[in-house]
Parts: sequence; C-alpha cells; structure tokens
Amino acid sequence: MKKQYFSKKIFAITAASVFSVGICTPALAENATGARPLELRKIMQELDKNMQIITASIAREDWALVTKIAPRIAEHPQPPLDEKMRILAFIGADAGKFESHDETTHQAARALEQVAERNDGQGVIAAFANLQNSCLACHQSFRKPFVEHFYGQR
Ligand code: HEC
Repeated sequence: MKKQYFSKKIFAITAASVFSVGICTPALAENATGARPLELRKIMQELDKNMQIITASIAREDWALVTKIAPRIAEHPQPPLDEKMRILAFIGADAGKFESHDETTHQAARALEQVAERNDGQGVIAAFANLQNSCLACHQSFRKPFVEHFYGQR
C-alpha cells in the first residue's frame, strides 16, 4: 500500500503534464455516447465494496478489519492516464475542486484508520460518517454531470 504514496489522488497530475501530453483533442474530449464504463466507475464500485465491509466490521466490532480496509479507500487506484485526460478535459476549471474532494476522502479514510487502530468504536462511527460525507460531497457536485457527459444519460 505504501508504494502508492504518489497515487493517492485520482488526479495526481500537474497542469503542465496535462498540456505536454496535449489532452485537448476533440476525440478525447467528446464521448457523450460511447457508454463504455469509465475505469473511474470500477474504482467507485470498489470503494463502495470496501465501505460495506467497514459497515459490517463496525457491527462486529472488528476494528482490526476496519484498520486494514480503510487504507484501501484512502489509497484507491487511479484511472489510466488517457481516461484522466478525458476527465480533465471535461471538468476543466473544476479540476481543483474535484481533486480537493478526492483529498478530503483520502484524509477521512486515514482518520478512520487511526481511530480504528485505537479500538475506539464511537470514534470509528464518527469517522465513518465523516468519510461518507466526503463521498457525498463529491457526488453532489460531479456525479450527475459525469453520467450525462460520459454516458449521455439524463
Ligand atoms: C472526487 C470525486 C469523488 C469522490 C471523492 C467519490 N466519488 Fe464516487 N463517484 C464520482 C463520480 C464522478 C461518479 C460517477 C462515475 C461514473 O458513473 O462513471 C461516482 C460514482 C460512484 C458510485 C456509482 C458507481 C456505479 O456503478 O454507477 C459509487 C457506488 C461511488 N461513487 C462510491 C463512492 C464512495 C463509497 C466514495 C467515498 C469513499 C466515493 N464514491 C467518493 C466521484 C467521486
């Protein structure tokens, strides 16, 4: 897990590298009807699965399992570079906002890991709620526009 230190963000990528690869080609930017699921969606489904494992672990007071799973949420994989390019081309000036939501989720999952390590049940529940809020915040801003843009659904 530690080896992913540099890839904790979905967008651990600089504006400079974006432009050096020349992302703004229409072929990459326009794909409203392609409908092949984004890798991002699979990453999200994996986050969802790990959140469910944590819910089950809380019910069993299995803090060791929470401690083990929380970093998988914090250090979730990133989409491949070409997909990041498509996403960045779409979100444009909102990239910073998207990244900061991702960072908030990262921090919240790390905080959850720390309270779970201390076997602090109440703390785990509070930290878990906080983590869920971080997911919700990004979804409220970005999910609908993503689904509309990348899958052409309304
Ligand atoms: C930085 C923004 C961001 C954060 C943070 C984020 N998500 Fe998402 N999530 C998205 C976007 C965008 C979509 C829509 C992706 C798509 O439909 O391809 C999505 C979709 C989903 C979906 C629906 C997948 C499907 O099959 O349609 C689930 C489930 C999900 N996220 C879970 C989570 C969980 C759990 C967390 C927190 C641990 C989380 N997400 C945090 C941006 C985010």
